[in-house]
Amino acid sequence: MTREELTGEQETDLALRISNLNVYYGESHILRNVDMSIPSGEMVCLIGRNGVGKTTLLKTIMGLLKSRTGNIFFADKPIAQLTPDRRAKLGIGYVPQGRDIIPRVSVEDNLLLGLEARPQGRKRNDKIPQEIFDLFPVLKTMLSRMGGDLSGGQQQQLAIARALMGKPRLLVLDEPTEGIQPSIILEIEAAVKRIIEATGISVLLVEQHLHFVRQADKYYAMQKGGIVASGSTEELSQEVIQKFLAV
Ligand SMILES: Nc1ncnc2c1ncn2[C@@H]1O[C@H](COP(=O)(O)OP(=O)(O)OP(=O)(O)O)[C@@H](O)[C@H]1O
Ligand SMILES: [Mg+2]
Repeated sequence: MTREELTGEQETDLALRISNLNVYYGESHILRNVDMSIPSGEMVCLIGRNGVGKTTLLKTIMGLLKSRTGNIFFADKPIAQLTPDRRAKLGIGYVPQGRDIIPRVSVEDNLLLGLEARPQGRKRNDKIPQEIFDLFPVLKTMLSRMGGDLSGGQQQQLAIARALMGKPRLLVLDEPTEGIQPSIILEIEAAVKRIIEATGISVLLVEQHLHFVRQADKYYAMQKGGIVASGSTEELSQEVIQKFLAV
């Protein structure tokens, strides 16, 4: 018998499924009945104006905030009760808004810190895989520099590379192009697409830059902590763009 016949549950091919999530900061109700799903191997983009709750949703997915109600499934496994470290080790890589590069630590050591997210943790002889430098050649030339001495765009590339060091199955990116010059935005965009093609990884992207949003398969639009529109990015209308993106 298949699992489906045994349990009556349908096996899904979803990297992430969220249902009925409600999240509060103290008494303020931030996320309201959020449902979302990310098919395996796809890129899903979350859009919405400043302060609507996008980062709050990502932090809840990562376990940095607790939800009052709702469920989060990562590859069919319920994860809402797990610590952030467990979620990372299961295969969710996170690049927070503002990047969080450690400024007084070398680029190389910033990268090696990403190994902590591997299931077996960091081992003594672990090295930085060549694929990381193929994706972000600039990092190879800067390994001994301090993280804080890199430009904003370089730090963003470092932050994405650090998340990839953990070999995630789902990559969660919070506004990776915020405050970055246009030519570097295109480089980051291209790198994310190459990562998806090369590894089959799934991506949840929070983004304001329309060109990048359009690279996603599906979008969700958030307003006042609730999902108010969703669909294929091919069908992104001018109305949705004007309402939910700061363009
Ligand atoms: N630590 C906190 N304590 C209390 N309220 C918070 C905290 N962090 C965020 N908020 C509030 O929660 C709401 C959602 O914030 P959040 O950072 O999730 O928005 P966002 O959509 O990511 O915005 P932005 O586009 O500016 O990054 C905002 O009203 C914000 O003021
Ligand atoms: Mg945010």
